[in-house]
Amino acid sequence: MPVDTGKEIIFLADLESTLSELLAESPNHHPRLQQAMNHAILGGGKRLRPLLVKAASELGEPPSQDALLRAAASVELLHGYSLVHDDLPSMDDDDFRRGKPSCHVVFGEAMAILAGDALQALAFETLAMALSDTSLAEGRKVDLIRRFAMSAGPSQLVGGQAADMEPRLVDDPGEELVWIHERKTAALFRLCLRLGGSLGGLDDEPLEQLEKAAWHLGLAFQATDDVLDRSAELDELGKTPGKDEALGKLTFAELHGEERARELAEEHLAKAMELLPEGSLADLAIRLVRRHR
Ligand code: IPE
Ligand code: IPE
Ligand code: MG
Ligand code: MG
Ligand code: MG
Repeated sequence: MPVDTGKEIIFLADLESTLSELLAESPNHHPRLQQAMNHAILGGGKRLRPLLVKAASELGEPPSQDALLRAAASVELLHGYSLVHDDLPSMDDDDFRRGKPSCHVVFGEAMAILAGDALQALAFETLAMALSDTSLAEGRKVDLIRRFAMSAGPSQLVGGQAADMEPRLVDDPGEELVWIHERKTAALFRLCLRLGGSLGGLDDEPLEQLEKAAWHLGLAFQATDDVLDRSAELDELGKTPGKDEALGKLTFAELHGEERARELAEEHLAKAMELLPEGSLADLAIRLVRRHR
């Protein structure tokens, strides 16, 4: 796949520095809370959502490097918080994340909950800093903050996580599965492309098109995650496999079987590809669906 690995490595190193600066120690911070936040965010994760923000911004006129890095960091902070809470004993009860013991294993449950809360707040602060560094119209900035909040909130990410824990009483489990996955996972993918594309100055119509592609991509991504939960090893995955089945989760692999889940991931990827222009965003889309970890 034609990926400019050199540029990507530099971006990811710059992103790491940006995240480190955002998480810098302060006499105003509780030291263990600070450590718990750093543990959750620094030095781990595939950073796919920041890469999506970057690739979408390149479809237009890319913004300043500072604005791009902060926007990319804001979605990674939101994602990082969601993982800390997702792993809690009262949720998926996962002891490993990103190849390390989960946040609550190292710092205790209370501190992990608080670290997640703090990361979510820091995500919003970081988004505001990113947007104030751009020449976008004020109305666009407010709209992006609202979309960021909605993606994170009860109608999207948190709502999806709620249904993942406690599926709603609907007749069709296939409908419920999509309802969960489009919220807990695809919503953040849509936000990444909306945010990146907006920073690149794209108009409403291409932004809508990007969000449609992101919806398919998010479902494909989560279908792959569901398959990997069954087929991958701890070492490669960096998190404990087999948890979905143990917890009786409604997943693509559980409902359709592993083979059909892989096919569905490919079908959603193909639909996303129809909507994406050729180039680094489309290449990234393929990589994030056909991944092994
Ligand atoms: C894990 O996302 C949570 C899901 C939505 C499946 P990633 O697979 O992107 O996790 P990291 O960021 O690489 O750790
Ligand atoms: C998590 O889905 C999605 C969010 C954190 C919002 P999973 O529970 O499948 O993610 P993993 O497998 O623990 O990474
Ligand atoms: Mg979960
Ligand atoms: Mg989980
Ligand atoms: Mg999973």
